[in-house]
Amino acid sequence: MSFRPSDRLTKLPPYLFAEFERKRAALEKQGKDIVNLGIGDPDQPPPRLLLETMKAHLRDEGVHQYSSSQGIEEFRSAVASFMKKRYGLALENREICLGIGSKELIAHMPLALTNPGDVVLCPEPGYPPYRSGTLFALSEPYVMPLRKERGFLPDLDSIPADVLKRAKILYVNYPNNPTGAVAPREFYAKCVEFAKAHGLLVVSDEAYAELYYGKPPCSFLELPGARDVGVAVHSMTKTFSMAGWRVAWVCGNAEVVEIIRGFKANCDSGQFMGFQKAVAKVLTKGTGDMKSIRAMYKRRRDLFVKGCRKLGWDVTSPEAGLYIWFEVPAKGLTSMQFAERALEAGVIMLPGSGFGQAAEGFMRVALTVTEDRIREAVKRLATLKL
Ligand SMILES: Cc1ncc(COP(=O)(O)O)c(C=O)c1O
Repeated sequence: MSFRPSDRLTKLPPYLFAEFERKRAALEKQGKDIVNLGIGDPDQPPPRLLLETMKAHLRDEGVHQYSSSQGIEEFRSAVASFMKKRYGLALENREICLGIGSKELIAHMPLALTNPGDVVLCPEPGYPPYRSGTLFALSEPYVMPLRKERGFLPDLDSIPADVLKRAKILYVNYPNNPTGAVAPREFYAKCVEFAKAHGLLVVSDEAYAELYYGKPPCSFLELPGARDVGVAVHSMTKTFSMAGWRVAWVCGNAEVVEIIRGFKANCDSGQFMGFQKAVAKVLTKGTGDMKSIRAMYKRRRDLFVKGCRKLGWDVTSPEAGLYIWFEVPAKGLTSMQFAERALEAGVIMLPGSGFGQAAEGFMRVALTVTEDRIREAVKRLATLKL
């Protein structure tokens, strides 16, 4: 007997990060040392407060059973107080739902909120689950290219009327992966108007909102009227170096949050309650750690940008996020060819083409290695004959 993946699954492009992970593992098996600037997987340990609080809760009674998929009250109250303090938002617990990481929230959104044949507006380059979640739901992704000359903001006015008639979700992601762009308030205000005019939901992926190097970026939800048309997705992954722990939340429009809660009740059973309690403690008492995390990424960013500029590469320093996004510094090479050359020199960086056609010609570097490793990467890149 043989088994085949579903048509929906075979329709998806290969997951770029997984391909590069395979290449890295194969090279390391041959004894090669590789500096991995590929996946945005924070390399630091999570906050001590999380570990200590979690340890204490392991012995508690009543935390080991199933919990509801929307998250315990203590977790949602802590999220509400964090969102109030950071963004001035007044959210009720019912306007917040737990995610087992934000990837599942994002990927499930079209299944919970669209029907086959609906359109989902997806930025390109963009985080792959916007598109894969849409295809799983048998909806159609409509690609919104993010161009450098537009500050990597989508041109909403260029979307054809027949597409807009079927559009149900608009994904926006700022601070942006991979471009590092930050959305000005005017862009979010435009999204509110646009969503109202076309009857669609804005899903603002704010996974990188706490990793900024200048002025703190605002949330989409801060804009007047935003909560009538949208939700924001936040994650602990990048902010607190907790990629493996899996915790996030979606908040905003109460009706949409309720729909997501109802959807999730059918496919997960929340997160370990002891962990949710520890996360609640970090969100209410441990946010001071974010300052040193930001300072660390800023040092790494500056080191990489300075190093590349010394090589004569035109590299812009991002205002926020975990990534450096820059044009392939060699005429005549595609981003994949450049990534292959970098890999031969012992450095993994991701080719723009893996983020969609609109991103061809760019490279992405993740700042998730130490300063020593960044120095080493730059040294190796300097040996490339371009
Ligand atoms: C734009 C964006 N959103 C969401 C996520 C998902 O993060 P997590 O599922 O760990 O919360 C990522 C991860 O790289 C991302 O780049």
